[in-house]
Amino acid sequence: MSIVLTDKQAEIYNTFFNEPDTRWILSVGGKGSAKTTVSVIILLTLFFDERFKNSQILIARESLRDLKNTLVAEFKKKCAEIGAKEDEVFIVKDDLQYIENLITKTKIFYLSLSDRNQQYRSVLSYEFNVVIIDELDRISEEAFDEVSQRMRLPHKFNKGLLNLNPVPETHWVYRKFVKNEFPQTKVIKSSSYDNYIKVKIPVHVFTTKAKPYVYEDKEYYVIDNTRYEVIGRDGDYILAKKYNLAHSFYVEMEHRNYAFKRVMLYGEWGSAYVDDGLYTSSFTEDNVFKGVITPKDLQYFYKPYAGLDFGFRRPAFVLLAEDEWGRLIVIDELLGENVSTLQFIDLVRRRLREKWKLEALQVEWYGDIAGRQASQSDGVSIINRIRQEYNIDVITNKVPIMDSVGLIRELLEKDIRNQKALQVSPDAPISMAGFLGEFKMDDFGKPIKDGYYDHIHDALRYAIWGVARQSKYDKFKVVVPEYWQIYILD
Ligand SMILES: Nc1ncnc2c1ncn2[C@@H]1O[C@H](COP(=O)(O)OP(=O)(O)OP(=O)(O)O)[C@@H](O)[C@H]1O
Ligand SMILES: [Mg+2]
Repeated sequence: MSIVLTDKQAEIYNTFFNEPDTRWILSVGGKGSAKTTVSVIILLTLFFDERFKNSQILIARESLRDLKNTLVAEFKKKCAEIGAKEDEVFIVKDDLQYIENLITKTKIFYLSLSDRNQQYRSVLSYEFNVVIIDELDRISEEAFDEVSQRMRLPHKFNKGLLNLNPVPETHWVYRKFVKNEFPQTKVIKSSSYDNYIKVKIPVHVFTTKAKPYVYEDKEYYVIDNTRYEVIGRDGDYILAKKYNLAHSFYVEMEHRNYAFKRVMLYGEWGSAYVDDGLYTSSFTEDNVFKGVITPKDLQYFYKPYAGLDFGFRRPAFVLLAEDEWGRLIVIDELLGENVSTLQFIDLVRRRLREKWKLEALQVEWYGDIAGRQASQSDGVSIINRIRQEYNIDVITNKVPIMDSVGLIRELLEKDIRNQKALQVSPDAPISMAGFLGEFKMDDFGKPIKDGYYDHIHDALRYAIWGVARQSKYDKFKVVVPEYWQIYILD
């Protein structure tokens, strides 16, 4: 048996065996990015190599049946391929859920980490020096914590490998490993496009069989439902990337919306199953702002607008920059937590000053019209209070929900001089996640109040409605029929 690892698999493999300071590898990637396969290869190395003798290895998944059907089955198959015979080289104790190498004495335990009946508590009776968890996102944080406390068998080799498809920023895995920077962890990201190996194909075979296929300006070739990408030539041979997933699988994925592709194909953190998002079908890669705006740029080349949603539990602020052509870019955001409106405005002012070198007066402010109501305690409205305290005039409009959502969709889809009229910077991650799918509406056409995204959504609606409703950018719009553009290009 021989298998050629993909570059990404080689990175995971080498980190696993050659980086003693890394305790956990978090291998996060798109569908079919070859994560499980490299885990099997790692398992084979651990099982047969003398260096790892007497290891106690845990392999786990949420469901035992799935584990047996994937990792365990694949492992046994590979053992057979390399000629390691059951009962001669290793024994399988299925009732006790372990496989033991009779020569190296290494044992692989395969256990479920389901929360049902707290099955994961079964790991409490073991100690391991290696842990491999497939589909980590499906198990609970408690189950993971139990396991990590059991990865303490004294052994010169000690390592954990955690595989998963990307999760949204609200998921415990993201919080624990990325946001809170879990110690001794290395995150390795992969995309479904990383699952390829490099091959040489005779030119005559290639030219007679390969059919071209273009996706997003990239040219591929397809032979028998396998996708190739030409990277060079060596005499009578074509050098190409040969993708390990079926071409038809890629095509299907490439036709999904951007929110899905971003997560399941490219392997970015986020939620893939958000087809019900208000803007999911309008928001594309072109709406992701790819430039950089420095404080100086903002002062000289853009006009800054702020959107505010008042509220005690989670007041929200967004900052938009309008460029000379009237395109709007969401460049910053802030979500408060249990602060009063006035305290929050103070935080926002400080952020504007420190991060953007802007004074509050240089910004045009938009807010919720409800802020005009007189307070029940002293009769002063929030809007007046903000004016008294900070000399900020917050403009308020009646902002109809459906119309403002419609306007935002229109701006997301509309081009101004070949760029989208509304773009979002990755530096505003809540807004980004919102546009990708977290801004939602219920069956009655009301935005869903989830207590988190909805506040940022409101802040955006107030600002964008105030700024863009008058369609002042219309004067820049040049209408050119499609065929005319093509004609020019030709
Ligand atoms: N080095 C390789 N050479 C050839 N084929 C490979 C290689 N690595 C993986 N594959 C194939 O790619 C496919 C996807 O691999 P795998 O199941 O490991 O991906 P995954 O990242 O675990 O997917 P998922 O996200 O669905 O769990 C499988 O059919 C596998 O056999
Ligand atoms: Mg897998």
